[in-house]
Amino acid sequence: MHNDLESILIAKEAIAAKVAELGQQISADYEGEELLAICVLKGAIIFTADLLRQLTVDVSLDSISISSYGHSTRSSGVVRFLKDLDESVEGRHLLVIEDIIDTGLTLKYLTENLWSRKPKSLKICTLLDKPSRRQVDLKPDYVGFNIPDRFVVGYGLDYAERYRQLPDVGILRPEVYGE
Ligand code: PRP
Repeated sequence: MHNDLESILIAKEAIAAKVAELGQQISADYEGEELLAICVLKGAIIFTADLLRQLTVDVSLDSISISSYGHSTRSSGVVRFLKDLDESVEGRHLLVIEDIIDTGLTLKYLTENLWSRKPKSLKICTLLDKPSRRQVDLKPDYVGFNIPDRFVVGYGLDYAERYRQLPDVGILRPEVYGE
């Protein structure tokens, strides 16, 4: 385990099992359809890469970048649009893939923006959810794990751009982020 972690919250084996389960569920739900997966950069990169390899339906991949955190551990509520999609989403089945939903502000903003572009459908898949932190009404369609309100890193999730490469999801020691 990395020295900056207090403990492992979700081990890589449990993540892999859950990603396989989500992949089966999504493949069944979209059977016979074409899907456009939208990776919300950067945290969802690793989850997206693993999830896509578990899908048996036809899927295209695009990415979008909006950021609300910067180097802080708490959401500012300010959403910045950094990179738009490459593809048109009109008339397509969208699956927005996130690593974590916290306040819900980021996805509320993003999904409202995407709905305005007239997709056929739009669902949200997140590896991690912190429902206790929600500030807006936003319910993901597919959730890997509900987690407590602790600062987690690894498997794509960062603190100040570090720790994304860790294979497990772990709880960061509070002294690392100065609390
Ligand atoms: C994280 C995460 C979500 C958002 C969730 O992204 O990937 O997009 O915060 O928080 P919210 O529900 O409170 O809005 P972050 O801004 O840290 O960017 P990153 O994915 O590039 O690390």
